[in-house]
Order: sequence, then C-alpha cells, then structure tokens
Amino acid sequence: MTNFDSTQLLRQDLNDFPPYTMGHTPLADLGKYIKLDLNEHSYGPSPKALAALAAMPHYHRYVEQEELRKAIARYVGVDAAHIVTSNGADEIIDLVQRIFLDRGDAIIDCPPSFEMFSFFARLNGARIVSVPRREDFSVDVDAVEKAISDCRFQISDSPNLQSTICNLKLVSLASPSNPDGSMLSHADVERLLALPAILVLDEAYAEFAGESYATRVPTQPNLIVLRTFSKWAGLAGLRVGYCIAPKPIATKIWQCKPPENVNAAGNVAARASLDDLEYLMANVRRIVAERERLSVEFAKLGFLQPLPSRANFILCRVVGRTGKEVRDALAVRGILIRAFGAPRLREYIRIAIGTPEENEAVLRALKEIDG
Ligand SMILES: Cc1ncc(COP(=O)(O)O)c(C=O)c1O
Repeated sequence: MTNFDSTQLLRQDLNDFPPYTMGHTPLADLGKYIKLDLNEHSYGPSPKALAALAAMPHYHRYVEQEELRKAIARYVGVDAAHIVTSNGADEIIDLVQRIFLDRGDAIIDCPPSFEMFSFFARLNGARIVSVPRREDFSVDVDAVEKAISDCRFQISDSPNLQSTICNLKLVSLASPSNPDGSMLSHADVERLLALPAILVLDEAYAEFAGESYATRVPTQPNLIVLRTFSKWAGLAGLRVGYCIAPKPIATKIWQCKPPENVNAAGNVAARASLDDLEYLMANVRRIVAERERLSVEFAKLGFLQPLPSRANFILCRVVGRTGKEVRDALAVRGILIRAFGAPRLREYIRIAIGTPEENEAVLRALKEIDG
C-alpha cells in the first residue's frame, strides 16, 4: 500500500477550505506583550477560580457537568434543562449547526461578523447566505427578511449561483457584535424572532453590555443564546462556553455532544467564577469605564475614528493609513492589536480594553505614531 494516496479520500468540498487566519502568540512570549488583539480579559481569572484550580485533587478523573449546568442556570435565571455546556462558545456554535443543518442547508451570516459562524457552516457542508451589514455595521434586517421569504440568495463564495432555492434554517448574529461592538436593537431582534428560522444569538460579550436575551429563551421556541466564560470571567484558555436553548433543542444538543467536552479545570474554574461574581463584575465595570474613556481619547488623535462599542474592545477607522500599518507600528512597541485582511475592514483596527496601565501604554504609543 506504499502508493496509496490517502488524500484522495478527503472530502472534496474542503479543498478550498479557508483556515481561521487569526494568529496566536507563542506561549513563551505571552508575558512579553501588552496583548489586546483577541478580546481577552487582561485582569485574568478571579482569585477564587485560581484557588479552586490549585486545590482540585481529581484531574485524573472525568468530571460530570451537571453541577456546572445548574450553577450557570442560576446565574442566567433559567431552568437548568435549557443549558448545554461546551468547550468554549466556539464548540456550541458548531454543535448547534450540526443538529440543524443537513448538507446543503443554509445559514444567514451578516459580515463583517464573527468568523466562526461561516467557518463551521463550511465545515458542516452548509451554505452561507451572506447578507452584508450596512456601512455603519448595523444589520440589514430588511435583507435578512427578504432572503428568508424567497429563499433566493447569493452564496457568498459562488456569486454566479444566484436564485438557488435552499433550506434556510439559522440566522447567526452576535450582539454585541465582533468586530464592531454594536448591539442589535430590540426592534430588530423582534423582527428576527418573527421569522421562520432559528435566531442563534451569540452573546459572548453580554456582561460588558449589561443585557441579555437569555431569559427570553423559555418562551421563544426559535431563540438560542450563546455565552462564554472567556471574556468577562477571564477563562479564555480554559474553554468554557454554553448555550441557553429551548428544552427540546437543549436535549438534542446534550444527546449529540461529546460527553467530556468541558475539561475538569474549566469546569472547576467556571463554577468558582460564578461564586466570585462581585470581584469579576467589578473588573467588568472597570473595563466598561475604560472603554468609554479610551473612545474619547482615541477620537482626539488625528487618525482614529472609534465606533461606539458595548463590548470589551473598540473598532476604530484609521485615516490616512491602513489598519495593518498601525498594527505593525504598535507591535514593534510591544503592543498587539487586531488588523484585518477583509477588504471592507482594511482601514480598521480593533483594540481590546486592557488594564488602565496597559491602556495608557496604548495611548502613548498611538500618540507617538501620530507623530
Ligand atoms: C462573538 C464571539 N463569539 C464567540 C467567541 C469565542 O468564544 P470562546 O472563547 O468561548 O470560544 C468569540 C471570541 O472572540 C467572539 O468574539
């Protein structure tokens, strides 16, 4: 079998699969940078979470998720039967798609948006109906309604396949949205919920916005809310996410998910975080206050136009240079921020909100660049 070409057996539809492009900093270098490129939480985990991780004697065991599920249910304010825990919000995006999408079914994606919606849709053999956001990054709900009502669309990567009839099942939207930080208006959410499709509402940044649709789920059969401990609780590296879904859907995801998807460390740290809300929410308030202060300071610089944000980051339009030029100029000063490859975002940078000291360093560096 030495001549056996195993690549012949690969799925042909993955030949042009675009990998997720975001770069990670090597572990050994993490402490060397002010890291504001991935919307993490500079304050880190809560002291109770760190203590619980150190005291846990059972890392050699598989750990059940029922207690975590109940603790999340109390935090969110719904019955535990609505909760499904996951290996970060990323995994729950995938699991939700897998239980709904047959090959060829479609999701609506509204770019610029969180890239993992379309990443998993491609991986799951689904089609992507692309309904671009308006110039100000708001969702074009008229266009979403139209796409669903006639199910004719432009497949994002095959513009000549217009007018294909499809089974459009999921509308995936983040609120606050990444990369721009805007929220869906309440009126727009109601219009989306009135459509004959599932609204998959990614609320990864809900704690910074101070509002959530989670408690609406028990009375709304077509709403699934996604949440995570990565951002507000500082547990990005431990990978704990969850969804709040109507009970029959939650039951189906629970049936289909890998049984050990939340690791023991993540499980312990997430539960301890929910016992340390006062500490964690004080940091969230600090980040929100810094976000507002930085927006004002960024706008004073000659070359940045910050967009209003409800998340833990700010998207800024860059005037007179590209986003990548600003990113590179900050990188040589030891500060990592995000620039984008997509043509529509070429003139933008996204900066996560760090500690006040980190934010001051960012401001100093930006002033230097401004010259
Ligand atoms: C909108 C959105 N959803 C989900 C995630 C991923 O969260 P997790 O770390 O829980 O996988 C991110 C991370 O940046 C995000 O911006």
